[in-house]
Amino acid sequence: MTELVRIFDTTLRDGEQSPGCSMNLSEKLALARQLERLGVDVIEAGFPIASEGDFESVKAIADQVRGTSICGLARTGQEDVARAGQALETAASPRIHTFIATSDIHLEHKLRMSREEVLAEVDRAVRQARGYCDDVEFSAEDATRSDWDYLVEVFRVAVEAGARTLNVPDTVGYTQPEEYARLIAHLRERVPGADDCIFSVHCHNDLGLAVSNSLAAVLAGARQVECTVNGIGERAGNTALEEVVMAIKTRPDVFAGLDTAIVATEIYPSSRLLASTIGVPVQPNKAIVGSNAFAHEAGIHQDGVLKAAITYEIMTPQSIGRASNELVLGKHSGRHAFRERLQELGFELEGEAFQEAFRRFKDLADAKKSIFNEDLEAIAQDAVVRTDERFEVTEVSVLSGTFAKPTATVELTVDGEAKKATALGIGPVDAIFKAIAELTETKSELERFHVNGITGGMDALGEVSVTVTEGGRRVIGNGAHPDIIVASAKAYVHALNKLEWHKKRHSLSEPKGI
Ligand code: KIV
Ligand code: ZN
Repeated sequence: MTELVRIFDTTLRDGEQSPGCSMNLSEKLALARQLERLGVDVIEAGFPIASEGDFESVKAIADQVRGTSICGLARTGQEDVARAGQALETAASPRIHTFIATSDIHLEHKLRMSREEVLAEVDRAVRQARGYCDDVEFSAEDATRSDWDYLVEVFRVAVEAGARTLNVPDTVGYTQPEEYARLIAHLRERVPGADDCIFSVHCHNDLGLAVSNSLAAVLAGARQVECTVNGIGERAGNTALEEVVMAIKTRPDVFAGLDTAIVATEIYPSSRLLASTIGVPVQPNKAIVGSNAFAHEAGIHQDGVLKAAITYEIMTPQSIGRASNELVLGKHSGRHAFRERLQELGFELEGEAFQEAFRRFKDLADAKKSIFNEDLEAIAQDAVVRTDERFEVTEVSVLSGTFAKPTATVELTVDGEAKKATALGIGPVDAIFKAIAELTETKSELERFHVNGITGGMDALGEVSVTVTEGGRRVIGNGAHPDIIVASAKAYVHALNKLEWHKKRHSLSEPKGI
């Protein structure tokens, strides 16, 4: 009989919390729908008390994504738990995930609470959460630096109060595989009621061990792994979902009798959708989803793979949904091929959004011979997820060169109203940005500007990435267009829209404890 290792995805919570990875509501919804197709058991959709925006995102995902459990994070405070409960009111399968730190380091320096006070908090919060839903997860933050006997006590209280998923986070990425496995075994043996609970692991990658630690814990009996697509997350990131899933799948001899409910062919689409949404590229040598993960460069490897793939290939690109990765589309490609490729990249466009994307694809195919995945991602991103934004680029024109002082005229839609400005600059991009800054009245600072020809050739689509900061918040905006001046305008406006989104989120309180 196969036992299930549950996959708890926290891309939209722990992942989204990391610099440059923020997403707006429609981006989060599109990603949540893709996670549902991927077959994750739980989507941690956000931290409802953190801000209005987080609350709204969790609520919208709970409303609209019905095929998987939707989870909201809460500290143990009364207001936190209540807010999570409210956000999840309409979920088909709600889960409240409440947490408090348990290491003496955190108790002394952060919480300034005694061990007894923490136990009382755990009891109170879990009972309160159970008042909203049956499915309650409790996390002992910084568990791997906590006293093991005290942890047993903490989890005993959580179980008695009604939690059935017990999470053992390696919050600071400090543990080692063998030690973590021993901790999980210790807790399974010692916590009263452990047999009726699922032990969960949540690892950070500070020492590059998040995946190894998670897998070691699975071998020791953990049956839920918390992870993120592409391993995004705080600092060095969280456990990479795709790596854990494919390790379990590829080594049934090691993970005997274990499996996940993940639809492996949706791994690559999920990875691409996330990367193109947040504009944080996947490193080329990243396991499973990096562009070189299946590329055999060395002659001896190529020779071996041509003779028999098994010589150097332990899994196929097709198994993670990378089937037609190398094939380019062109102007003779039809709707069917276009739709299939979009699905492979994680986009499910329907109705007018699909028609609009197809029209733009045809226009681009008229202008350049080969259309690559990156071209399609740029088109689909524009069509699908940037719907609730304040600013939109409608017209851009520049005059520049050796005889002319660079001058830009930009027309933007600002809150639905067309506005135009002209500005001079030291170059065409500078002029464009000045015009946009005037129209949006932004107080942000441009920190980084990067241009990349995302697909080869003279007719390459230019991709621009800009990093802007305001009030300590850093966001990355992306834009793609055959004309890099237009791409620059789109990237800058994308970044400014993200800042606006954060302002709207209007922090109630700075999240404490994570
Ligand atoms: O890293 C951590 O400890 C967390 C908890 C909230 C589970 O993210
Ligand atoms: Zn974490």
